[in-house]
Amino acid sequence: MKRENFNSKFGVLAAAAGSAIGLGNIWKFPYITGKNGGAAFILVYIFCIILIGTPVMISELVIGRKSQSNSAGAFKVLKPKSKWYLSGYLAVFTSFVILSFYSIIAGWVCAYLSRSVTGKLLTVVPDKLGSYFTSLAGSTYEVLFWNLIVIFLTAFIVIAGIQKGIEKYTKILMPLLLVTLIILMFRSVTLEGASKGLEFLFKPDFSKLTAGSVLEALGHAFYSLSLGMGIIITYGSYMNKEENLVSLSFQVITADTVIALMAGVVIFPAVFAFGFEPQSGPSLIFITLPAVFQSIPFGAFFESIFFLLVGIAAITSTISLLEVSVSFLTEEFKMERKKATIILAAGVLLLSVPSTLSFGVLSDVSVFGLSIFDLFDFIASYIFLPIGGIAVCLFVGWAWNSEDLINEITSDGAYPFKGYKVYRFIIKYIAPVAIMFIFLYSTGILKL
Ligand code: PHE
Repeated sequence: MKRENFNSKFGVLAAAAGSAIGLGNIWKFPYITGKNGGAAFILVYIFCIILIGTPVMISELVIGRKSQSNSAGAFKVLKPKSKWYLSGYLAVFTSFVILSFYSIIAGWVCAYLSRSVTGKLLTVVPDKLGSYFTSLAGSTYEVLFWNLIVIFLTAFIVIAGIQKGIEKYTKILMPLLLVTLIILMFRSVTLEGASKGLEFLFKPDFSKLTAGSVLEALGHAFYSLSLGMGIIITYGSYMNKEENLVSLSFQVITADTVIALMAGVVIFPAVFAFGFEPQSGPSLIFITLPAVFQSIPFGAFFESIFFLLVGIAAITSTISLLEVSVSFLTEEFKMERKKATIILAAGVLLLSVPSTLSFGVLSDVSVFGLSIFDLFDFIASYIFLPIGGIAVCLFVGWAWNSEDLINEITSDGAYPFKGYKVYRFIIKYIAPVAIMFIFLYSTGILKL
């Protein structure tokens, strides 16, 4: 069976940037930036993302494109009769688990989108927004319903294939995301008192910068670029030799960072203009911001656009997560695409049930002091993801043949890569050690 490839350069960028740009950009990056000294942290982040993010992204793209295979098959093609393929299996497993809880949050976003469009959300008194959110998250059927919608939409796009599905939709959705972001940005910075928010986000304060913030920046760079879980390998496998992998990596990273900063410019000026406290995570999006929108003229309109934006960011990430296991089943088990997608979508839905219920009927259950949702997140994001990332570095840096590596990066010499020596040094020595530190720090083994 002939493998499908992406059809256009813009399609490749839209798909990869679509995966990278997600909830991490909107609800986490702006907040950790503000908390860790604004522009000072942005500099550190940019340094981390260039130093570690780019080389790892290039490596994953190379593994995918050279092997023209899914994330597990790739290692079998490049290094037959070795055990490296196990790291590919781990990546498939990690992305599947992440999808099971990422889709729940995407479901909340859809629920809020529908409530913004109908204007319902605007009628909730600000004091009640907290309990309004917890009652949605804690409901059994409603959350499952929205989760089902997200998984259905994701599967619908993935079933249609690479060109007619992922590429076609991300090419529409990513520009739309940019337009909504620009509209919201203008609204936010023109509010009275907006400058305090911009100050929170951008004012450099080197005293807030600690060793911990550096590791936080590194860890976030990794997560934000969707590295370490087979996504970039899988997308790389749909690329052809005309693609310049080095410049593509820089484009994705630039897009991811610029969008994260723009999200900050949307959120914090508005939050500060109305006297709210900056926060991160669910409470920022589902409690603080709805309160802010209530104070803004045409709030329902801007609120709808905002949740549309977050929904798009989430869906273009969920499709990349699902594609990892779909390509795995279709290639390793010769399963038809449609069948594989349906089976996996059903599997993800089932796996997401315990996490969903951990906000409601199962809220008393805790394992190692974590709720089921947090446990899944912890295992996948803090343990498996770094292991997957280290495996990629070790494979490309040590196990694989360097001749093949340079030929693939440069598309057989068509795109000379001046930084190759530096890249190789980083991928061999610096990146694996840095990721190891992220692992030790985020699991709490290393305390700073
Ligand atoms: N990169 C995404 C974000 O910033 C998160 C993500 C992780 C998406 C893993 C897909 C897979 O939110």
